[in-house]
Amino acid sequence: MTHQTPEFHDRMLSLGLARVSEAAAHASARLIGRGDEKAADQAAVNAMRDQLNMLEIRGVVVIGEGERDEAPMLFIGEEVGTGEGPEVDIALDPLEGTTLTAKDMPNALTVIAMAPRGTLLHAPDVYMDKLAIGPGYPKDVVSLDMSPSERVKALARARDCKDSDITVCILERPRHEEMIEDVRSTGAAIRLITDGDVAGVIHCAEAHLTGIDMYMGAGGAPEGVLAASALKCMGGQMWGRLLFRNDDERGRAAKAGITDLNRVYSRDEMVTRDVIFAATGVTNGSILDGVKREPGFVTTETILMRSKTGSVRRMIYRSPAK
Ligand code: FBP
Repeated sequence: MTHQTPEFHDRMLSLGLARVSEAAAHASARLIGRGDEKAADQAAVNAMRDQLNMLEIRGVVVIGEGERDEAPMLFIGEEVGTGEGPEVDIALDPLEGTTLTAKDMPNALTVIAMAPRGTLLHAPDVYMDKLAIGPGYPKDVVSLDMSPSERVKALARARDCKDSDITVCILERPRHEEMIEDVRSTGAAIRLITDGDVAGVIHCAEAHLTGIDMYMGAGGAPEGVLAASALKCMGGQMWGRLLFRNDDERGRAAKAGITDLNRVYSRDEMVTRDVIFAATGVTNGSILDGVKREPGFVTTETILMRSKTGSVRRMIYRSPAK
């Protein structure tokens, strides 16, 4: 008898996914502003794993907390779920912005995406050069091969506005100094963020709310796949190229089955089929409110999205404080 795996019922699974990201946010909220990144991350990991294991899925973590030998939980390759139900890939970042949480700075999120097995890029834990814009632009209007200033000019032409009307979001890092200077030479504005480039990319999909038109720069490759999952649901274009600094990092790529080290991945090459995505605010941010703790209650805001329908839900969840 051939064993048939149930279909990826994204509609049914999505609420479960929201519960997973809510639980991680609840757990890490207790550690907001306590100066302890590790403890905040661990709390989110534990809660996310417990909730994930309640879902009726045969899940495998493809983007997780790290390789098996460096992460005891939610490591790459860990099987999650009840072991019944559809075979799925899971990409997660239980706490995206550990430092933001420890310092009580904006835009820390819990993030998780789920897709049919074999459809999410197994990005190794290296850097990725990223470029993202929101929906409504012609295909490939900007590219990773353009210089930062050329990207600004091309986007301004497509939007029929001045270069100086464009706002670019970039991670504030020494490695981005030249990029920042080149963008500034066009007169465009830059929103510098200290951490959290999944939120940075998502900002582009809601430019009317966030004021950000384009995201660029090098950040974690795992975060790149999560951001591509979000943009696939919200609309918008994204490209990523893995960056390798040494042989150990090239070895990680080989282990993940990646042979072409210079390949530029489009959004749909990082996430090849339908995906569902949930993120919950931990600290207040421009896309989600952070966890609110009032006497007796805890309230979270979660964004829950499905690429199949392009549906974007924002859910407020109030629960008794434990
Ligand atoms: P953590 O939450 O794991 O600390 O990651 C935060 C983050 O800012 C990501 O959003 C980003 O992709 C990455 O770190 C950038 O890495 P680096 O801090 O090495 O520049």
